Amino acid sequence: MKIPLLDLKAQHDPIDAEIKAAVLQVIDQANYIMGPEVAQFEKAAGDYIGARHAIAVASGTDALLLSLRALGIGVGDEVITTPYSFFATAGAIANVGATPVFVDIEPDTYNINPKRIAARITPRTKAILPVHLFGQCADMDSILAVAGEHRLPVIEDAAQAFGAHHKGRKAGTLGSLGCFSFFPSKNLGGLGDGGMITTNDDALAERARMLRAHGGKEKYMHSIVGTNSRLDTLQAAVLLVKIKYIDGWHEGRRRNARYFDNAFAGIVDLKTPVVRPANYHIYNQYVVRSATRDLLVAHLKQCEIGYALYYPRPLHLQTCFSYLGYQPGDMPEAEAACRETVALPVYPELTDEQLQYIAFRLEQFFLSTSLKKSL
Ligand SMILES: Cc1ncc(COP(=O)(O)O)c(C=O)c1O
Repeated sequence: MKIPLLDLKAQHDPIDAEIKAAVLQVIDQANYIMGPEVAQFEKAAGDYIGARHAIAVASGTDALLLSLRALGIGVGDEVITTPYSFFATAGAIANVGATPVFVDIEPDTYNINPKRIAARITPRTKAILPVHLFGQCADMDSILAVAGEHRLPVIEDAAQAFGAHHKGRKAGTLGSLGCFSFFPSKNLGGLGDGGMITTNDDALAERARMLRAHGGKEKYMHSIVGTNSRLDTLQAAVLLVKIKYIDGWHEGRRRNARYFDNAFAGIVDLKTPVVRPANYHIYNQYVVRSATRDLLVAHLKQCEIGYALYYPRPLHLQTCFSYLGYQPGDMPEAEAACRETVALPVYPELTDEQLQYIAFRLEQFFLSTSLKKSL
């Protein structure tokens, strides 16, 4: 049996007619830039998240860039973030001319460790940028407490966490600004790139809206230097269809995660995801951990089970950040996570047989490695 890490065709097939009708309507309307679907999607997504403002942009990367710029962050400023994330998190900080300051992660949730943040705050620190990695909120209560003490804004990188919540409040409404990605592999994904900024702050919303359209409110009048980062009408139309199904997809992923949690409970050499109380995890990724990760990966390859390494190298050790002077060993938890974690298929359309097959193959691997150990 061959199982991919993600099967977008399985997601699209049941809603194929609806998506094609929405796309055709956009083609027929010929309103390709900022057509009515963009505002309709902003309303639907903003209501879903519970944010006063939702500003659709061209990608999750742009959502981060424009959020930093909306806060006026640039050259000479520092932004505290995690070393264990997709590159865009730190790349956006560097791209506005600021310095990413990395703080190691919690070993169980893989999210930034709030206890380590205060020690890295300097007079140059202008924001804290936690990531809700794999679809689980970072410890926002503690992050907001330290941010509040130092009067710092918090930008949530919620690219992987559309619909995740903590104590009933959705990711993207907990800090000053929330950044989302609608990359096709996200729980809510378009047919290409897309992103969104959420905020409850009217002034930040206005700045973000201006920045995404060359810094003007009126055509050809530019009060600040912005960029072109609008969400295509076509993507908005597709996302408007897909957002209706998002809760069911989250529940499907959570059901599959529960299945694996139970199936793997007896395997001592395998750690399943840890979910903090009051967190609603949406499992954009189901990530397990093992000291024998590389052997496990070879086994998955042999069994034709899709997997991914999120992420093979931490951000503080990326070549492009060598100027920051970090060394191996500086962020031991992030470095260990890079060596020991692997993401397994968890998409909602997985069948019972596929779930059983994945569980069986993993059990088989750990049984044979523990037998080898005991010989
Ligand atoms: C944590 C994180 N931040 C930022 C991004 C960037 O989003 P995009 O690919 O839409 O630019 C992604 C997604 O790829 C991500 O996973």
